[in-house]
Amino acid sequence: MAEMGHEFLARIGKTKLRPGGIEATDWILKKADIKPDSKVLEVACNMGTTLIHIANKYGCDIIGVDLDENALEKAREKIKENGLEEKIKVMKADAFKLPFEDASFDVVINEAMLTMLLGDKKEQALKEYYRVLKPGGVVVTQDVVLITDSTEHARELRIGLSRAINANVEPLIDKEWQSCFEKAGFRTEQKTGPMTLMSVSGMFKDEGIAGALTVIKNGLKEENKEFFQRMRSFMLDNKKELGYICFLGKK
Ligand SMILES: C[S@@+](CC[C@H](N)C(=O)[O-])C[C@H]1O[C@@H](n2cnc3c(N)ncnc32)[C@H](O)[C@@H]1O
Repeated sequence: MAEMGHEFLARIGKTKLRPGGIEATDWILKKADIKPDSKVLEVACNMGTTLIHIANKYGCDIIGVDLDENALEKAREKIKENGLEEKIKVMKADAFKLPFEDASFDVVINEAMLTMLLGDKKEQALKEYYRVLKPGGVVVTQDVVLITDSTEHARELRIGLSRAINANVEPLIDKEWQSCFEKAGFRTEQKTGPMTLMSVSGMFKDEGIAGALTVIKNGLKEENKEFFQRMRSFMLDNKKELGYICFLGKK
């Protein structure tokens, strides 16, 4: 199967594979109000970047799940390098069938995954998060939002983004996103901002100077250049219509 945008970015050295980067992650973590004894689950943890950040910052235990065994292997290595094996557990699991009892967690984090789900799958995943959350628990997310009033333009943007990142994705406008959370039973707060995934300033903010330079250098290598420029051009050409949206959903 052809490499998808997030797999490509991870291969060239990017560690944060999400539309609003660290700015959006900071907002959702502040809203999640994690305590050292909170029970926290990250769905779509990929290489464990957010898991490690949370365990270091809040001192809580945390479980990460993802479907991508290669990304989980990378996560295990990084967790070991950071000496956090006691705090962080990762396992292969599907967001739609989480291997946990009802009402097990205070917080569920899910960054840049719902955008990848089509049709009513977003709502289905959110219902599964609702199930594993304790009463009063919260889900926090960041995803791609479309900024347009035109249904036709929204459709073109979905097709264009899917082509640019080599994955069939379905970002929504803000009201549609909100409706998914409400249908799953959540009361919501939200925040939006610019999509910074591929902008130079976003890369510097998310990856640091050395990290951003590595990503750019690798992205411009002959074998990577076409994909790198295609993603970057689409996101920059449509920067007024593409943003990030974060949700806090309360059970
Ligand atoms: C764009 S990446 C985001 C990774 C990470 N959350 C971040 O923000 O850097 C999307 C991730 O979702 C994972 N994923 C997609 N569908 C999934 C599912 N049904 N269950 C669990 N993980 C899934 C992919 O394997 C991938 O790691």
